[in-house]
Amino acid sequence: MAATAGTPTLAADLEAGRRKAEPCKSCHGPDGNATLPGTPSIAGQPTFFTHWQLIKYRDGRRKDPQMSPFAASLSDADMADLAAYYAAQRPLPRPATTGPVKVAAGRELARQHLCVSCHRPGLTGHEQVPRLAGQDLTYLVKMLRAFKAQTAGDLDGTMTTAAQPLSEEDIENLAHFMATLPPSP
Ligand code: HEC
Ligand code: HEC
Repeated sequence: MAATAGTPTLAADLEAGRRKAEPCKSCHGPDGNATLPGTPSIAGQPTFFTHWQLIKYRDGRRKDPQMSPFAASLSDADMADLAAYYAAQRPLPRPATTGPVKVAAGRELARQHLCVSCHRPGLTGHEQVPRLAGQDLTYLVKMLRAFKAQTAGDLDGTMTTAAQPLSEEDIENLAHFMATLPPSP
């Protein structure tokens, strides 16, 4: 599989996606807005991003004991339908206890490290790049640690590279900042 974004091109069926999302609800919520700490909200994520993540779980390039079994038997059409369905759902902010000092430090780090150059101003994501704004704080910390440790299995290595200069304190500050941003414009 080439590491180029935008390859999934199957015509997606939103209604089919809604039906196929039935088994996902217990963890990701009825509309893709999860409430379990550590479980990402997938509502409003760009179609390509969700499709690629599902491919990676199915192919074992991204592994998680909870998530991987649910991707194992998905067809390419299932993934396209699910990605289209979740992209059409409205993302809601996740409740988080954030500190103003950490949020301010995180905002400055996001500027210094050019996170917005890929994740977009407001960190709302596009194409293969996920929305970070309003995502679950625990999940954001977990992912940044995993990219830094080079265990996240990212699509093309860009995120692993972006995480290398971050200290544990930077990761925490960035997560506090991202969690406070509004998830949709
Ligand atoms: C048993 C709980 C559970 C179920 C059911 C489940 N997931 Fe997940 N999902 C998770 C967890 C936990 C993660 C984060 C795993 C990790 O860190 O890699 C995740 C991650 C994801 C991601 C990556 C999101 C991101 O921001 O990186 C996508 C996409 C996803 N799930 C889609 C689905 C779909 C579609 C279904 C149904 C077919 C589903 N999940 C069913 C628990 C679940
Ligand atoms: C060169 C482009 C690029 C830059 C710069 C970048 N990212 Fe990313 N980021 C990505 C891509 C692409 C992904 C999806 C990776 C994958 O496929 O696993 C991602 C994924 C993530 C995720 C995982 C989210 C999820 O839902 O799974 C987090 C958290 C994240 N980035 C935070 C950051 C932060 C913080 C910065 C700045 C320090 C940053 N990124 C800079 C491209 C970038």
